[in-house]
Amino acid sequence: MYVLNAWYVAAWSNEVTREPAARTVCELPIVLYRRQNGQAVALVDRCAHRGFPLSSGRVVDDSVECGYHGFAFGCDGVCTRVPAQSSIPARARVRVFPVVERDGWVWVWTGDVDRADESLVPDTHWMNDPEWATVTHSYRFECRADLVHDNLLDLTHESFLHQTTVGDDYIYEYGITVEVDGTTVTVDRLMPGVEAPPLYADTMGIDGLYDRFHATEFAVPSHHTLHSGITGLGRPREEGYLIKVLNAITPIDEHTCWYYYAFSRNFGIDNVEATENLRIGLGTVLDEDAEALRLQEIGLRTRPANEHDVLIAQDAGVAKARRIMAQLLKAEKDAAETVTTGTRAGSPASPAAASARVPAPAASGRA
Ligand code: FES
Ligand SMILES: [Fe+2]
Repeated sequence: MYVLNAWYVAAWSNEVTREPAARTVCELPIVLYRRQNGQAVALVDRCAHRGFPLSSGRVVDDSVECGYHGFAFGCDGVCTRVPAQSSIPARARVRVFPVVERDGWVWVWTGDVDRADESLVPDTHWMNDPEWATVTHSYRFECRADLVHDNLLDLTHESFLHQTTVGDDYIYEYGITVEVDGTTVTVDRLMPGVEAPPLYADTMGIDGLYDRFHATEFAVPSHHTLHSGITGLGRPREEGYLIKVLNAITPIDEHTCWYYYAFSRNFGIDNVEATENLRIGLGTVLDEDAEALRLQEIGLRTRPANEHDVLIAQDAGVAKARRIMAQLLKAEKDAAETVTTGTRAGSPASPAAASARVPAPAASGRA
């Protein structure tokens, strides 16, 4: 159901405090809190004693104390105190999730602890760079995470869903190029000699014709960086007005997800009014996405099993990303089966060998 060997954003940094906070990531209940030294901690949100949510307890020193019978668990998940007796059962411990906190986001690793590689956390430095100005939003979307991925990989929806803000007819009129590098899919669209979209033109205070571009870089399964902007006709992109839109999508369950959003720009960075206008305008854009995806989720939940998406040329990135997601899911499923059974028919017995296998691409064009 979910790719678990991955980093997912679980919270904004300012949401993790000395008060325990509950989150659900890929159906895993997680409690987040800060140690006395400020370090963020993520434990399973379920007491080892009798399953009470630790997020309903309190933080004491570096531990979280269960609010039911007072068991205390340290940041290593080990129980440090059982109020009713002096001996602590060896099984009194809870799962610990690796955490990386960077640029305002708190990432958790939901898979095998020994595969939690910090270098895999996406680059989000623009959120913290003084040369860039950033506005942020976050939503609980009433849709499966896959719909957000599709939404970001096929930006032709901007022409129709976001007509008054970031959309116009140029987007669907121009084709895309799609590249795959490992488990990252990039969908690039160049729109030469066109006007800037209304929201950006107002912010930049410009008119006239520019080369416009956007490239969605999806690091499957959880993060998209949208490299967008306008530049002079025939000029290099890096010379232009640049925007980096960071999108972290975190599944909650089969039908809902968290959407963490940061929009950074390298122009007009001291223009407070422009920043506020962008914050409001982009809020409108995301409201439109949230409602569209909620409706799409309803459409898919009521769709007969023998009906499938009809993908077109503009969905080339969607199809490639779905194939990679299916490969990652299958690799994890195969590895889990190998660990459970010791071996699979026709497969090597070692979990490492199983997790390294990449199965043949799955059929595309199916939801
Ligand atoms: S359920 Fe947590 S201490 Fe009893
Ligand atoms: Fe959108």
